[in-house]
Parts: sequence; structure tokens; C-alpha cells
Amino acid sequence: ESMHRELEALLATANKEEAEISRKDFDGFKKLFHRFLQVKGPSVNWTKINRPPEDLIQPYDRIKAKGLPDDITTSLNKLVVVKLNGGLGTSMGCKGPKSLISVRNENTFLDLTVQQIEHLNKTFNTDVPLVLMNSFNTDEDTKKILQKYSHHRVNIHTFNQSRYPRINKESLLPIAKGMGLNGANTEAWYPPGHGDIYASFHNSGLLDKLLAEGREYIFVSNIDNLGATVDLFILHHLMSLPADRRCEFIMEVTDKTRADVKGGTLIQYEDHLRLLEIAQVPKAHVDEFKSVTKFKIFNTNNLWISLPAIKRLQEKNAMDMEIIVNPKTLDGGLNVIQLETAVGAAIKSFNNAMGVNVPRSRFLPVKTSSDLLLVMSNLYSLDAGSLTMSKKREFLTTPHVKLGSSFTKVQEFLKRFENIPDMLELDHLTVSGDVTFGKNVSLKGTVIIIANHGDRIDIPAGAVLENKIVSGNLRI
Ligand code: UTP
Repeated sequence: ESMHRELEALLATANKEEAEISRKDFDGFKKLFHRFLQVKGPSVNWTKINRPPEDLIQPYDRIKAKGLPDDITTSLNKLVVVKLNGGLGTSMGCKGPKSLISVRNENTFLDLTVQQIEHLNKTFNTDVPLVLMNSFNTDEDTKKILQKYSHHRVNIHTFNQSRYPRINKESLLPIAKGMGLNGANTEAWYPPGHGDIYASFHNSGLLDKLLAEGREYIFVSNIDNLGATVDLFILHHLMSLPADRRCEFIMEVTDKTRADVKGGTLIQYEDHLRLLEIAQVPKAHVDEFKSVTKFKIFNTNNLWISLPAIKRLQEKNAMDMEIIVNPKTLDGGLNVIQLETAVGAAIKSFNNAMGVNVPRSRFLPVKTSSDLLLVMSNLYSLDAGSLTMSKKREFLTTPHVKLGSSFTKVQEFLKRFENIPDMLELDHLTVSGDVTFGKNVSLKGTVIIIANHGDRIDIPAGAVLENKIVSGNLRI
């Protein structure tokens, strides 16, 4: 009741144009908040969790073995590529949308995406559109940049995800003083996670427009996953199933390594595939969840979803996603919570959903400057917007790279390398403290460079470091 009153009071401060959008946002928020109040206890009963049966998570090779038809263009004509573009580059020390950070040869995440789809459209003489789901944090900057692609062979559409009010942890009421986004109010709002895609895509009218054009599936992925290219074999698999076995949802999963403890996994639960996220796991089972033996795969967030199915489920109000309660402490010390959902959590609502276990190469996220170092290096080559592992690398896995806090911000990271070292034979790199790299350095095997507080280590141009520890003035 008091939530309802507060929301109405906030709406009263909006201008006419804003009010209509905000009302839709608040309708969504009210539903989410209402569900949040009703939820009691954990969302899964641990004893009911089962390993999914074989045929529900198929190996990619089995999908690939079906080959491709002569006219894959017919299938491409029914496809839409959607990139989740609500996030900022804050964790890499950048202002503005994350998608506008340069990651390879001056190309941003967005540039690479556009190049990939343009290449696809030219190669197969089709016109797969690109849809960006922006948030109020990224919309303006993204739209400014989009002009630069007007002469590219790709139609770009955008829609905005919802803007929800952060709520005070104690009172559970919005902290916003009005609809504005300035001053103290900037921290009062948040984009409610990528699970918001279903409602906001539907509300925007774009979903209906694309359906009317004859589009049937969307391929959704994180814009910072450089491995998330359109896979023709998965597309063909979806399109070739008979109508009575139509698969409405494919989640691309990949084998977990010990470094991937965070990602959600697919489980069989009450006759449905379900995404199990670490936040849903009871404390006593967290180690079990993280182990690579029981839960062998994790969600890449590359998803193939039926458009008519999204429409049906939205209209029936039947999209069922667990609520993620994300606690935050604001600059002034105020504790708030934001209620979020994840796009993959809706898998249980779709018919004939399945997982496809894809090669690791389809999961190439750039979350940190350590990831950035890898994708900028000669471990990868760039071709029509896609990165592929260099044939010159003899091992199939990528090196483990751990750069210290002096490298966190992209600007500082770039200043510390005159150019990116040769990493073709690298297994493991740890760098800590004030370290710089001269031109044409080569790193091989295991390399550890540690500059103690107050020291600086400059790796000279042309140096070859192979299985070396460099620390202070001690060199081994
Ligand atoms: P994040 O970078 O925040 O999440 O968003 P993550 O750590 O990879 O983990 P998951 O995928 O959430 O489990 C991933 C992608 O989703 C977008 C971001 O822009 C990024 O591309 N995103 C996230 C949105 O578009 N809206 C949101 O509300 C949250």
C-alpha cells in the first residue's frame, strides 16, 4: 500500500512524455516487488535437483554434424541478433557504456558486433538486424555513436530496458525524491538486470514489429562476450525441428574449469530445465555448487529464444524468473536493495528448452583488464569482427593472466604497455605493483613480476621472459 502511494507520488513529478514510460516501468516493478514480498525461503529444494538427462544438453558436435542446408539464408531471414547493452564500463575504470570501450585495434565491442553482422549479411545476402537493449545509463551515448554505422549493411534498432527505484533496505520504500536523474537522485534508480528484456522488448513494440517482419528467433548475448557470434549450426538446428517439437529456448553452456566458479548451471528440476545461480544455493551446498565434478557446465548467456513464445508468455504473464536481491551501499552509506532478474532464468517457462554444450571459444568475455590483455594480444586474430585463437598457439587453452590493481583502469593499463607482449607460449602471468612493459616483450611459460610498494619494474624492450620470477631487484 505505502509502496503504491510512493510510486504514484513519484509519477506525479514526471513530465507527460516520461510519465507514460515510467508507468509501464512501475507496473513491472510492482509485480516484482509483490513477488519479492511473497517469497519465503530458498527457491530450490536441494534434494530435488537432478542432473539434466543427456538429450537435454547436447554436445555442440552433434548439432554441427547435421550440417547446413543450401539455403541457410531462409533461416537467417528469421533471425534477430540482440545485444545486452545496459551496462557501464565502470568496473574497467571507464565512463559511459561498456560497449564503447576499445578492445582490439581501436574497435569497440559495438564496432566488432556491427562488423560481424555486416559480414554475415553480405556473405549470405540477408539483412539480420541488430537490436541493442539499452538502459537509461547507456541510451544517450549509444545513440550518438550509432550514426557512425548508418552506411553499414546492418539495420540497428534499440529499445530501453526499464528503470526501477532502488529501495531502502529497512523501510523497503523507494529512496527517490522525484523522477529526475540528477543530483542525489542519480543513485535512486537502476536497470533491473537482463531478465528485464522480455517485458521491455514487448512493451517497446519492437517485438511485434519484428514478428510482423517474419522474424522467429532472437540470438541474445552479453555485448562484452566477444565469442558470441551467430552460429549457423545452432540456427539451423532450431529451424529444422518439426513443429510439434519446436524448441523455444536454447542456452549455450560450456564446460566449467576451476576458474569458473561463479556462472549459473543448468539443472533438471520438477521435469524442467532450470538455471541454478550461486545466489540460490543454500550456504551448506556452495562448495558442491562450485565443484567441477557435480556441476560440469555453466551458462554463457548466449541464448536463442523464440519470438512468438516470448509474446505468448508475456501476454499470459507467465514468464517466471527467480528474483535476485542485490544489496548495495550507496556513497553516503545508505543501504539499499535492488531487485533484479536474469534472462536465462526464464528457461523453465519455455517449451522444449535445451542446452547446447559449446566450445569454450564461444565464451570470451572481457570483464577485467586481464581479459583485455588476452584479446589484444597475438593469441587472437581478428577477421570480420570475430576473434579466433591464433593457429600459432600450440595449446588449446588460454593463459591465466592476473594483473594487479595498477592495471584495473583501461587508461592506466594502456600506459603500461608500449605494445602488447607476445603471449603465444604463455601459460601463466601474474603482475603486481608498478610495472611497465617496453616494446616487443615476449612472455613464455610461467612469468611472475612483482614490484614491491615504492619500487617500479620496467621490463626493457625486446626482453624475453621465460619461466621467470622478477621481483624488486632480485631476478631469478
Ligand atoms: P554484467 O556484466 O553485469 O553481468 O552483464 P555478468 O557479470 O557478466 O554476469 P551475468 O551475465 O549477469 O550473469 C552482462 C551483460 O548484460 C548487460 C550488460 O551490459 C552486459 O552486456 N546488462 C546487465 C543489461 O543490459 N542490463 C542490466 O540490467 C544488466
